[in-house]
Amino acid sequence: MIEAFGDFKRDKYCGEVSLGDVGKEIKLCGWVHRVRNHGGVVFIDLRDREGVVQVVVEEKSNPDAYEKADRVRPEWVIGVAGKVRRRPEGTENPKLKTGYVEVVASEIKVFNTSEVPPFPVEEETQVSEEIKLKYRFIDLRRFSMKENLLFRHRFYQITRRFFEEEGFVEIETPFLTKSTPEGARDFIVPSRLHPGKFYALPQSPQLFKQILMVAGFDKYFQIVKCFRDEDLRADRQPEFTQIDYEMSFVREEEVMDVAERLVARLFKELLGIELKTPFERISYQEAMERYGTDKPDRRFGLELIELSDIFRNTEFKVFRSVLENGGIIKAINFKKGNLSRKEIDDLTKFVQKLGAKGLAWIKVESGKLTSPIVKFFSKKEIDKLLKRVNAEEGDVIFFSADKREMVYKILSALRLELARTHNLIDESRWDVLWIVDFPLMEWDEEEGRFVSLHHPFTAPKEEDIPKLKEALKTEDLEERKRLVHLVRARAYDMVINGEEVGGGSIRVHTKELQELVFKLLGIGEVEAKEKFGFLLEALKFGAPPHGGLAFGLDRLVALMRGLDSIRDVIAFPKTQKGICMLTSAPDYVTPKQLKEVHIKVVE
Ligand code: AMO
Ligand code: AMP
Repeated sequence: MIEAFGDFKRDKYCGEVSLGDVGKEIKLCGWVHRVRNHGGVVFIDLRDREGVVQVVVEEKSNPDAYEKADRVRPEWVIGVAGKVRRRPEGTENPKLKTGYVEVVASEIKVFNTSEVPPFPVEEETQVSEEIKLKYRFIDLRRFSMKENLLFRHRFYQITRRFFEEEGFVEIETPFLTKSTPEGARDFIVPSRLHPGKFYALPQSPQLFKQILMVAGFDKYFQIVKCFRDEDLRADRQPEFTQIDYEMSFVREEEVMDVAERLVARLFKELLGIELKTPFERISYQEAMERYGTDKPDRRFGLELIELSDIFRNTEFKVFRSVLENGGIIKAINFKKGNLSRKEIDDLTKFVQKLGAKGLAWIKVESGKLTSPIVKFFSKKEIDKLLKRVNAEEGDVIFFSADKREMVYKILSALRLELARTHNLIDESRWDVLWIVDFPLMEWDEEEGRFVSLHHPFTAPKEEDIPKLKEALKTEDLEERKRLVHLVRARAYDMVINGEEVGGGSIRVHTKELQELVFKLLGIGEVEAKEKFGFLLEALKFGAPPHGGLAFGLDRLVALMRGLDSIRDVIAFPKTQKGICMLTSAPDYVTPKQLKEVHIKVVE
């Protein structure tokens, strides 16, 4: 039944057959998308990368082809020779690119058959994502998936063209390398030639791109895979792609300008959308105070309202004890929320799962306040509160009282939850902004040391460097924390619709400052030399002032395609558990392989 491909030569893609071809004899190749026998006539929808075209096979005029067409099944691979004609009036399909034509087949060739696929190649299928990933070659036949990857392809080309025009040099950096800390765990690779030693896959090309600046390349870029062993989510994969760049003799302005023009170009050329540049900037502090997060989605309101001052002397024990212990009180007013008791209880459960001790609330209903807590408040407190939150009929006000970080965590999550469940997000809007003025470091309670908010190579603001030096001098930890927290980084994150799509910074370019930063981070001289000796070495030999940025390409593409998960824009992604369903990686290796790399597996 299977015929030789031989010298069958196709003329064009199925999806490209058009009215201009009417009357022509053409040859097509593709997959049987659908096949219907109407008795005496078989209709085949033939599919390839560019689309689908209708093939008509008539028994009367062509019994051989008809007999074959009657046997073909979905996903068989066939060739069709035939004449293009305009579809009879009333049978056109304006929704289809090829909807005004059809190909009347004179010959059908079966190049391959197919087993019944585990799910049909249709947009709406009721199969689990795991099955789809296992049979990714079938899943990728769906038009939306194909379009995602073709979009991604165009995205790469525009990006490359942009950097080329701007005078950037594309340079590859190694994958088998040493740890590049970006806040995640490393994937490590054992070395056969060096027993007990390991390569680390790069979490980013950060150190290499800085060294390229020291080497004098001036402007570098790369579209590059990065590897991070972290807990996965819809917007995180263990291997993902960055658009990475670095520039010499620049300040924040120049790096951010390149990022803005690239993003504006991508939106214009791929979506026809004009983004207004320069993008808006807000400080880290403002973002945290107003939205409780450093990646706010501002396509809806529900901003956080500060109330600590109002309740400083309150009789309500929960609030007072939080304030006495250095915590804060903030609220969200869900304007005209009119939530039922059940909805409020569900939201309480939602925040409790995140670690909240409770979710106090007030509802403005029929001119009165319904609430489990107003009875504890004085008239003055209530008046001030209602004025501060601008309370009106139908409003529901939610309170969080806790340590500052917890209040931010709870209310930023509640804010998103309310927006999602009540359709408050203005989907027609693109909220593009920069977050700037990040603190350089924050105190990590668990680890009992300072950690970088970005990475340890980020430069502090010039005017804040004296505070860093002072911090190192003092022995008093609380004073040290106070001083360090005042130091701002020369860092910037780009946030679109509440997603961090990129981030970067101006770097430390002198050995002295880099050593000072390492010291504050608790990275001792020996450790610094062991881990980053090569960078410190390079900084000794004429490192220029430099800075850069990296975009998460997968996130940006998914966002532009309106997709929730980056898995949909990656050809072969991993599951939430880090498994490649197609190949079953990670997998066991043979004892011989283990022995060669000097590894013993502990059960
Ligand atoms: P950062 O760690 O912020 O910066 O990474 C840059 C961007 O990469 C994306 N991203 C991810 N995307 C998918 N899956 C992941 N696991 C993942 N982790 C990060 C995010 C993020 O904004 N070297 C610095 C950049 C620099 O300073 O120039 C860096 O890697 O969109
Ligand atoms: P309680 O006095 O513990 O019964 O709490 C009274 C109200 O305050 C309840 O509605 C609780 O959900 C709420 N509540 C308790 N702790 C907090 C907190 N830390 N932040 C906000 N609300 C709280």
